[in-house]
Amino acid sequence: MGIVWTAAALGCGLLAGSSEVKSHKLTFISPRKMADSLHEVIAADREAYARLIVQRLDAEEHRLTTTEDWRAAHGLPVPAQMLREAGQSIQMRGAEFSYTLRSLWPINPSYGPQTEVEQTGLEAVARHPEENYYSEETLGGRSYFTAVYADLATLPCCAECHNRHPRSPRHDFQTNEVMGAIVVRVPLEF
Ligand code: HEC
Repeated sequence: MGIVWTAAALGCGLLAGSSEVKSHKLTFISPRKMADSLHEVIAADREAYARLIVQRLDAEEHRLTTTEDWRAAHGLPVPAQMLREAGQSIQMRGAEFSYTLRSLWPINPSYGPQTEVEQTGLEAVARHPEENYYSEETLGGRSYFTAVYADLATLPCCAECHNRHPRSPRHDFQTNEVMGAIVVRVPLEF
């Protein structure tokens, strides 16, 4: 009897043990998980704005040649400006993390790589867009986990607008090609 009871208890223990492994409570979120989750939200917002607003208006206004024309006609920001506005707004609310767009071929030079990690990350995701680039860096005396995610021309209007923009250093972007990167920084010390 004793033996049967022990075996049953052991069996339950093993089952409980294996289900515990699968559904253990998350008490710690790694900087990488946090950066990946932030990126999911940023990229989804960016894609929705481009698809629901920019793509539709752009299709109606193919004759517009520059972004200034586009903005003047529609009174709306291009996707990069939406991302910057939201990124600045979140900083004003005191967020510790930050994010920005970067590109090796920027229309606006302030979106060019600003740190060695950004430069290396941009080159890496341009070669292998499916692989995110992760590193650590110290900026202003504080260490950060820095994640670089490929920013793709998800819609035809992305490539078309950049290709026809007079200040774009490239005029041969294709749909689904890498245009730059979203860089997310999570502080490693508080
Ligand atoms: C109607 C024109 C237009 C469309 C459509 C557009 N962009 Fe841009 N994009 C710009 C302009 C202009 C800038 C520079 C914004 C600034 O000065 O703040 C820019 C900036 C960027 C940057 C930062 C580097 C740079 O070139 O300055 C990236 C990356 C980028 N866009 C990718 C995209 C992607 C991906 C899409 C589609 C989802 C897209 N763009 C759609 C005009 C456009």
